[in-house]
Amino acid sequence: MKLTLRVWRQKNADTPGAMATYELDGVSQDMSFLEMLDILNEELIVKGEEPVAFDHDCREGICGACSLVINGDAHGPERTTTCQLHMRSFKDGDTIDIEPWRASAFPVIKDLVVDRSAFDRVIQAGGYITAPTGSAPEAHATPVPKADADYAFEHAECIGCGACVAACPNGAAMLFTSAKVNHLNVLPQGSPERETRVLDMVSQMDAEGFGGCTLTGECATACPKGIPLFSITSMNKEWLRATRKVKR
Ligand code: FES
Repeated sequence: MKLTLRVWRQKNADTPGAMATYELDGVSQDMSFLEMLDILNEELIVKGEEPVAFDHDCREGICGACSLVINGDAHGPERTTTCQLHMRSFKDGDTIDIEPWRASAFPVIKDLVVDRSAFDRVIQAGGYITAPTGSAPEAHATPVPKADADYAFEHAECIGCGACVAACPNGAAMLFTSAKVNHLNVLPQGSPERETRVLDMVSQMDAEGFGGCTLTGECATACPKGIPLFSITSMNKEWLRATRKVKR
């Protein structure tokens, strides 16, 4: 395939960016999207030009590092991570726009790389269990109803990629935060910090400058792990319950 790539290039956080156009030939439909960018970078390096900076790590849809807006969609046209998107989703002669996540809480560091440390600080505010857990306990020592275990696992699937924020017209981080809150709050191990967790994580989310949620649902549509929209309403219930129980 022969493609025209229009890629966001930005030297650093303090320099304005712009789209740059590259023609790329010999792209196989079996390549992943990131392998296609690898080919582009090899060509740029051979020409003595600066390669395009982009985030990636596992390239297996697990780590959440890859983060591109492709033709206006977070992670592109398929409901998957950018690293699991393949070039068979495009056709010969296509023009593809490639941009970084667009959200004020995710400032661009360089080219297609953004700073997602705001997510880390939301997790640091309460996305953990403080009890020393030691080695793995006997599986039946703490009974967990099957429905609760499934609910926790469904939310634990969030990989923190930030597609929900990039897709949201408000730049809200409610789907990410609610996934992390619900995953722990439903389990007996997470119960002692149930109230402080949701209050602290929501406060930190607001402090990071994420937008307000208006339940447009774009987040759940873009989420490569299928975190459901009701996760947000569940967290809102948790938050209301916590405000009644904890006086601050
Ligand atoms: S590189 Fe790890 S999820 Fe895409």
